[in-house]
Amino acid sequence: MDSVGPGWGSSVRVGPADVPFSSFAAKGETTMSPTDTVLMTPPTTDSAHRVAALNRNDKPFHVVLAQQFDRNTIEQLCQLADMIRSIGGSRQGTQFLRTMLSHRRAMLYFIQPSTRTFLSFTASCQIVGMPYNEVRDRSTSSEVKGESEDDTIRTFSQYFDLIIMRHPAEGFAEHVANMLNESTRAIPVINAGSGKDQHPTQALLDIYTLMRSFGEESGGESRAPAEPGAVGEPRTSVRAISGSPNGTRAIQPGARFHRNLFAGKTIAFVGDLKRGRTVRSLTYLLCRYPGVRLVFVSPPELRIGEDILDYVSRHGIEFEISDDVRSQLGEFDAVYMTRMQDEWDLNGESKSIAYDRYAINYEMAREFKPNLVIMHPLPRRHELDPRLDALPQARYWQQVRNGMWMRAAIIASLFNVDTAIRDHYYAYYTY
Ligand code: NCD
Repeated sequence: MDSVGPGWGSSVRVGPADVPFSSFAAKGETTMSPTDTVLMTPPTTDSAHRVAALNRNDKPFHVVLAQQFDRNTIEQLCQLADMIRSIGGSRQGTQFLRTMLSHRRAMLYFIQPSTRTFLSFTASCQIVGMPYNEVRDRSTSSEVKGESEDDTIRTFSQYFDLIIMRHPAEGFAEHVANMLNESTRAIPVINAGSGKDQHPTQALLDIYTLMRSFGEESGGESRAPAEPGAVGEPRTSVRAISGSPNGTRAIQPGARFHRNLFAGKTIAFVGDLKRGRTVRSLTYLLCRYPGVRLVFVSPPELRIGEDILDYVSRHGIEFEISDDVRSQLGEFDAVYMTRMQDEWDLNGESKSIAYDRYAINYEMAREFKPNLVIMHPLPRRHELDPRLDALPQARYWQQVRNGMWMRAAIIASLFNVDTAIRDHYYAYYTY
C-alpha cells in the first residue's frame, strides 16, 4: 500500500523548483503521441485508492504504478530475482524453472517501439516456461476494422492469462487493469511503459541494479561469481545442499537486500526528466528509502514534474534541482543518465535545447567517485560516451541483464510460484 501520511517529515527543496515549467506546457503539450487515436487521462483519484484497485491481499495483482511497491515487496522481488538467477545457471535449474508457469500464457501488446523491455519480457517468460504471443503493430489487428482498443484487449483476456503492455497513452494500462477487474476474466496486467508517465518494471530492475551495486560487500554486482554458463565459465550441474551450482559460494540473496543501502547515498538523475517515465517510476521506489538524497539535473525546459517533487517532499526525502552535471559529479554515488525524449515533441522544440551539457564523457571520469554507479535505461545517444563502457563504474549492461531476472521474478510473484522457487533455492542452493 502506498504509505502517504503523517510522520514523513519535510523535504529540503534546494534550487528553483517552484519556477514554472517549460515552454512545452505553455504550448499546450498533451500527454498523447501524435499517432494516438484515443485520449486517455490518468485517473485523478488519490494514489491510495488507485493502488488498492491494482492490488489484492495487499500485494500487486496488476503491475501498473511504482507506488504499488513498498519496501518489503521491492526487497522480496530483488531476493527472488537473485534466486532465479542462481537456479537458472544450471541445466537442471533451468528445467525446474520452466515447469513453473508452463500452464499459463502471456500476451505482449507493445504498440510503442521497444528492444530491451520487449525482449527481456520474452526471455523472462521463457525462463518461467510461459508461452507467449505478441501484437506490436495495430495495423495487423482488427483495430483497423474499427474494433475498439477495449474490445481488442478483452479479446486477449479470453486467450491469455497475463497481458504485458506498452502504450503511448498515460493511464491506459491502469484503465485496462480496472476494466478487466470488472470483467468475467480478470487477468493481471503489467505496464511495460505508459506514455510519459510510468515504467514500473524498469524501476524495479533499476533498484535491483542499485542494490546489487551498493551491496557489493555482501556479494553484489561486480564481486558476485560470474553466472555459470557465461562464456568462459564452467558449466556444472546442480550439486546438493553442500555447494552452489557453479562450485563457488552462492550469493546469499537475503543478506544485502534487507539493509537500507540507500541511506547517505546521493543519486543524480540527468537529462529529459520531464518526459522520461523511467525516472518518474524509480523516484517513487527510492522514496521508500529514508536517508537517500536525490539530485534532478536537467535543462530548465525539461525539469521533473511537480507531482513527483510533491511526492518526494511528502516522503521526507531530501532533493535538489540543478541544471549542471559537471559541478557536482564528484559527489554522486549513482548517476542515472537519460536521452532526450524528442518523440514527444510537437514542433521540434527539443532542437533548441543545449542537451550536450547533460552528457558525461570519458574525460570526466577522473571526477567520478571510485564506487560511482553509472546507469542508463537505454537506448543511449550522445549523453553517454561509449568509451565509459569499459570502466568499473559503468553498470548499464548489467542493468539490462538484471531486467530479465527481475521480470522473471515479477511474473513468478504475480502467479504465486515464488514460494516454490524459494523452497527449491533453499533446498539445493544454500549450505
Ligand atoms: C526507456 C523507455 O522506453 O522508457 N527504455 C527502456 O524501456 N529501457 C527509456 C527511453 O526510451 O529513453
